[in-house]
Amino acid sequence: MKPIKIGLLGLGTVGTGVVRLVEGHQDDLSNQVGSPISISQILVKDRSKSRNIPIDASKLTEDPWEIVRNPDIDVIVEVMGGIELTKDYILEALERGKHIVTANKDLMALHGREILEKARDKGCDVLYEASVAGGIPIIRTLIEGFSSDRITKIMGIVNGTTNYILTKMSQEGVAYADVLKEAQTLGYAEADPTSDVEGLDAARKMTILSTLGFRTDVALEHVKVKGISAVSQEDIQYAKRLGYEVKLLGIAERQDDLISVSVEPTMVKTSHPIASVNGVFNAVYVHGEAVGETMFYGAGAGELPTATSVVADLVAVVKNMKLGVNGRQSQLSYNVTKLKTDEQ
Ligand code: NAP
Ligand code: HSE
Repeated sequence: MKPIKIGLLGLGTVGTGVVRLVEGHQDDLSNQVGSPISISQILVKDRSKSRNIPIDASKLTEDPWEIVRNPDIDVIVEVMGGIELTKDYILEALERGKHIVTANKDLMALHGREILEKARDKGCDVLYEASVAGGIPIIRTLIEGFSSDRITKIMGIVNGTTNYILTKMSQEGVAYADVLKEAQTLGYAEADPTSDVEGLDAARKMTILSTLGFRTDVALEHVKVKGISAVSQEDIQYAKRLGYEVKLLGIAERQDDLISVSVEPTMVKTSHPIASVNGVFNAVYVHGEAVGETMFYGAGAGELPTATSVVADLVAVVKNMKLGVNGRQSQLSYNVTKLKTDEQ
């Protein structure tokens, strides 16, 4: 059977997890899709760097175009991060009929519409489950699981790094800067952790979730953002004494045709389930008019949890290839309702 060939852009925390899963679960994956899945080429910044997994050095390249323009590659898995250059690679790959799986919320929050429109025109898939809440399949759930309902609220912890920091500060009294270093070592933080601690990463994720959940275009500039860098140990201990935990909460609400989206440190009653979401874990609470309250919980960052979402997207793309139905999930399922944000 002809293998499905993957071009992997990035071999850092998430890319390493993708290689581990594709290789470690190869039999199960190929049974599900009916073909072996082979990672043919891998983009890195520095080929000479030592890696955490044994890797065939001949697969490594520092030239993205070698992968993007390789006619043998069927699917590009983008786990390198970055925005403008990465967008160029993805648009070029789509132009050449390649399907895309990405974990890049920065890219999808800013340029999702353009990328999805290109994918639709080219009959290609662009799937991005890992871009929000790591291992929790929340994007698929919002698009498919709630298609029959009207969502009125999406609320949750969508950044693992800041939740890890706040948890350690609350439970162990550890200093902010020390825990941030730990989160970086564990591979949770972004290349520039300012976007984690200042709330931008969570804001980008809330842009994606509210766009999908409310089936409208939500722009990042309409999300009110405040991070945790000004939250002190005293704030946390004071909140605890009053019966609260401090959490960086994303809240997106809809009232009639008006929506509001924000990210900010919030005092959460210890009796609320979100108060006991600790460490790198994320939780997303979704309220639908018909279904009522639902809540989704799991690891929000890290090598293998994130890779499970990436590889699940890969399986979905390959199944679509077998059925000849690629591009259907790139339909703009959110271009349904015209809503205003409260900033407009
Ligand atoms: P990372 O550990 O910093 O890895 C990035 C990889 O991409 C590295 O292998 C790096 O090469 C390569 N790379 C970066 N820029 C490059 C360039 N200009 N040219 C060639 N190669 C380049 O990042 P990560 O944590 O895996 O995150 C990757 C993406 O997944 C980001 O979009 C991030 O937001 C997203 N994400 C991460 C997590 C997580 O838990 N870490 C969870 C969900 C989503 P070298 O190895 O040679 O330096
Ligand atoms: N830096 C991000 C976080 C990675 O900590 O949640 C997962 O998107």
